[in-house]
Amino acid sequence: MAVRTDAMLGIDLILVTDDGAAQMPGDSSEIQSRSSEPVRAFTAQSHSKPPRESTRHVGTPPVIPDSFFDEHEPQASRLSNLQDHHARSCSNLLDNVPDHPMVFGEGDSNASLMFIGEAPGTEEERHGRPFAGRAGVKLDEMIKAMGLQREDVYITNALKFRPPGNRPSEPGDFEWCGPYLAAQVRIIRPDVIVVLGGPASKLILGSPLGITSLRGKWASYNDVDLMPTFHPAYLLRNPTLEVRGQVWKDLQEVMKRLGLPLPARG
Ligand code: URA
Repeated sequence: MAVRTDAMLGIDLILVTDDGAAQMPGDSSEIQSRSSEPVRAFTAQSHSKPPRESTRHVGTPPVIPDSFFDEHEPQASRLSNLQDHHARSCSNLLDNVPDHPMVFGEGDSNASLMFIGEAPGTEEERHGRPFAGRAGVKLDEMIKAMGLQREDVYITNALKFRPPGNRPSEPGDFEWCGPYLAAQVRIIRPDVIVVLGGPASKLILGSPLGITSLRGKWASYNDVDLMPTFHPAYLLRNPTLEVRGQVWKDLQEVMKRLGLPLPARG
């Protein structure tokens, strides 16, 4: 379905039919669509891309067998088995698999701190590692500010594949990828999870609230304390004292909960 808008014209709502016919706001006449499909409406935002079709999922969301949690098996090999299982099961993202490789996660399989973003981007796909691009450099700085190294933590994403056509993530994606995130958390058993940015926070917490409301407030995911904060890419775009201060405040909360030494005030 072709859906389009033109924010350049200052038009904030355009109705577009499947065949591309458009109706301006205030036009009370019915759209004369040549298609029998219903008309969709959306609000235009500058630089926004047209919404894309949702991914077609088939079957039922995955169930991870108990054998993946056998504690006699080292955590690292349990994670590796889980990764193989996810790679095999992901024919559910029908449009996605051939051109979007899976990025599973990396770091200490016994970490007490886990960072979770939304989904891999181009750089991550190229390197097969989460947060491998500029946002990753900023994330490394955040981790260092906490007195840790990247190797000390575990980093992953709510979705292990970038959604088709780079469209925004949807709750339906998390129905399919979420069981793997839950399994990663169950195997690693971190003391604290930091969720990076609004899309990941919304997926994981199932919340309609934006990151500005969610950040800085403790939540819980499968009995693990969880702190949402701004995404490092947002920090890169908005490196103001205020935003940096908010992220640092959130990270200090996490440090306190983990018993990590806070830097002396100076
Ligand atoms: N942004 C994310 O949310 N995850 C990544 O891995 C990289 C960028």
